[in-house]
Amino acid sequence: MKLLVTGGAGFIGSNFILYWLKKHPDDYIVNFDKLTYAGNLENLVSVQNNPHYRFVQGDICDAQAVRVAMKDSDTVVHFAAESHVDRSILDSTPFVKTNVLGTQVLLEAAREAHIQRFHHISTDEVFGALELGSTDKFNETTPYNPHSPYSASKAGSDHLVRAYHDTYGLPITISNCANNYGPYMFPEKLIPLAITNLLEGKKVPVYGDGLYVRDWLYVEDHCSAIDAVLHKGTVGETYLVGSMTQDVPNIEIIKTILAIMGKDETSIEYVKDRPGHDRRYAIDWSKIHTQLGWSPQYADLRKGLEKTIEWYTQNQDWWKRVKSGTYHAYYEQQYGGK
Ligand code: NAD
Ligand code: DAU
Repeated sequence: MKLLVTGGAGFIGSNFILYWLKKHPDDYIVNFDKLTYAGNLENLVSVQNNPHYRFVQGDICDAQAVRVAMKDSDTVVHFAAESHVDRSILDSTPFVKTNVLGTQVLLEAAREAHIQRFHHISTDEVFGALELGSTDKFNETTPYNPHSPYSASKAGSDHLVRAYHDTYGLPITISNCANNYGPYMFPEKLIPLAITNLLEGKKVPVYGDGLYVRDWLYVEDHCSAIDAVLHKGTVGETYLVGSMTQDVPNIEIIKTILAIMGKDETSIEYVKDRPGHDRRYAIDWSKIHTQLGWSPQYADLRKGLEKTIEWYTQNQDWWKRVKSGTYHAYYEQQYGGK
């Protein structure tokens, strides 16, 4: 395959490129990334001289740059997005531009280039929220009901991708994935924020009552799920990707991190809640399991957290550089100096 990967310098995109070049060394990857605050080429130093890998800096909203970058590819894997819910609440403009308009620009270019597969990476957040205490799960037929500007913009992008399949016959697939965690995750998201704050001797900000539930997935499992969809998935289909078999509220995740890191609960700080905060996500991932034979290999959350804490402990230069600079201004605005 000759892949154009958008957003390949971000958290999941860079994990995906490292995974893919190891698993499929004969394939070629062009990584097209704007390098926003979330893009970091340091994640990819180990492959930067690989002749099967090439980086192109560009914006997915720039039709000409996209056309040139896509020229020799047969497959597009589209990760590029503004991805942090709290930032979308502070300013939704870049979310609509990149996630909606940028996706439309890519779809047009893919149509023109006769791309053989356009795989769109999306999120479970497009489905809205489930009730706390219920056993309901999202599946491929759950109606869309997004609540944040981020999830609304991702929902818009999903609709566009399906429309390009239905209207123009573009060979698309979509995966809607749960919360990922693991190496190279930007420390604005709960798990890396908690780990790095604790390593810095700071407290962990917990929103509201801390009883919100997410379906956590180790990032390598997301990469293998995309691999399964690209190799075995059916064009036009959507696959939900998750990992958990029971609910674990945020506060329990934080307590597990504290225990692994040898800290006590005085390191927890309850802060004001996120507006429009979705209570509970849970994914029924039986379709990808039964139809494509995929299962998560790191479903033991404690082991995944231990692995992740070890990575952040051993790669302090990486996140200290990331947390400096403009990150300070965001942290001040979001957490009011706490
Ligand atoms: P991230 O914020 O870590 O990385 C996003 C990457 O996209 C960055 O490298 C950034 O530079 C690039 N980018 C942003 N705007 C761009 C533009 N206009 N043109 C080109 N590149 C641009 O995001 P992530 O957490 O790795 O998420 C990747 C994808 O997976 C997103 O589409 C997100 O919605 C989806 N997703 C994420 C999660 C999660 O838990 N992180 C879960 C499900 C789905
Ligand atoms: O569900 C998939 C989504 O997961 C992806 O589409 C998004 O790109 C990704 O950012 C993530 O969204 P969340 O909002 O669920 O992730 P976040 O890490 O921001 O928050 C996880 C939970 O922790 C959520 O209930 C809010 C809470 N939280 C978060 C932060 C940053 C806190 O309690 N304190 C915090 O400081």
